[in-house]
Amino acid sequence: MRRSLVVLGGTGDLAGRLLLPSLAHLVASGSLAEDVEIRVVSQEDWDDDGYRGWARDRLAAHAADVDEQSRERLIGCLRYNRGDVTQARQLRPALERVPGVPIVYLALPNTIFRPTLEALVEVGLPEGAQVVVEKPFGRDRADARLLNEVLHRLVPEDAVFRIDHFLAMQTVLNLLGLRFANRLFEPVWNATHVDRVEIVFDEALGLEGRAGYYDSAGALRDMLQNHLLQLLALVAMEPPQAIDDAALPGRKADVLRAVRPPADMVRDTLRGRYTAGTVAGRQLPDYAAEDGVDPTRGTETYAEFTVTVDNWRWAGVPFRLRTGKALGSDRQEIAIHFKPVPHLPFTNEQPAPDVVRLKLDPDAIAVELNHNGVGNPFDLERQVLEAILPQPEVPAYGTLFRELLAGRTTLSVSDIEAEESWRIVEPILAAWAADEVPLLEYPAGSAGPVRG
Ligand code: BG6
Repeated sequence: MRRSLVVLGGTGDLAGRLLLPSLAHLVASGSLAEDVEIRVVSQEDWDDDGYRGWARDRLAAHAADVDEQSRERLIGCLRYNRGDVTQARQLRPALERVPGVPIVYLALPNTIFRPTLEALVEVGLPEGAQVVVEKPFGRDRADARLLNEVLHRLVPEDAVFRIDHFLAMQTVLNLLGLRFANRLFEPVWNATHVDRVEIVFDEALGLEGRAGYYDSAGALRDMLQNHLLQLLALVAMEPPQAIDDAALPGRKADVLRAVRPPADMVRDTLRGRYTAGTVAGRQLPDYAAEDGVDPTRGTETYAEFTVTVDNWRWAGVPFRLRTGKALGSDRQEIAIHFKPVPHLPFTNEQPAPDVVRLKLDPDAIAVELNHNGVGNPFDLERQVLEAILPQPEVPAYGTLFRELLAGRTTLSVSDIEAEESWRIVEPILAAWAADEVPLLEYPAGSAGPVRG
């Protein structure tokens, strides 16, 4: 079936920095059909050539590693329609013009998702069309429900692709291979053997000029509600019968349903905001003084919470999720900490228990083990077995596009998952909005806020 891509709002940061460069990678790796049409609808007063000029610049800046011929081939596939995407009358010409079945990609600020979807309902989409929605999916559970409701008036759930690009990261997908293609891990992947799980995404990057979006989102909505809860779901889910659309979202949804929000907000959650400091030789100002930030909003740039998964496999095991901007180092990993051995037949003190780490950047898998020492064989030593994986051929967004163009939704977030994730974070959002948990400050470049 011939498919075309209709990108609504394809003139923003997302399109220029991630979508077009990923498509260029697909052209270079031969995975984008020669005759694919990519039609962009946005407000700028451009024609096809005007848009192509903008795209050429963006590709030079963000896809310099892709050869020029591939970039030019992609540019040749681009078409442009000027229009307000929330107006059916202005959307119709673009949708009528594309050949084949459209994949409609909402690369828009999430504040206009709903009016845009309403306009699409008015225009109507042909059989087989797909709709792609970026994160964050709504502002809270009620909003996510309303979005799901209008999406389902437009296309069936199996034609909706809710983007979470973490699901297409190499190490994240490796988690599935590690767990389900080995005999070694799955038998111990449970509360009998696992002491605790950490899912950490510390970033050295600060705001990077994204105040318009970030200051009204904050770290909890930006990262924990979606990306890190998806990682939790993949770590904790039951083995699926197959890695496909029918099985994977369902297994993840079961986990999210079982997650109990933090019981004690002061003990189990932590929020912070960075102040001026130096990160990797770069001087960052106070977050509150960044351009476009409204300091009275109290937006957090660091968020952390600990939850449990109330089912047979995980009862009692704490899962700690944390993320922050402007931190001293990029620690981005899933760490499975095992329990100590039940009996140690050595005279040594109990050694540190085993840890399996799935590192996200650079992609690596590390297993920390104890074994007999090199000098005195009756002493114990710690060894780390680490495999650093080669850089993936295409970035995560490229993998998502490949899936989309093949008509698969295995790596999409389902309607139930989106709503359940809001159920988990809503009590935290409410407690933070009511100032039940203090907004702590941490200097840029430090390890994050410290509880008093
Ligand atoms: C995005 C968040 O979804 O993910 C950003 O909005 C974050 O704040 C980013 O920096 C991290 O993902 P990546 O792929 O850029 O490391």
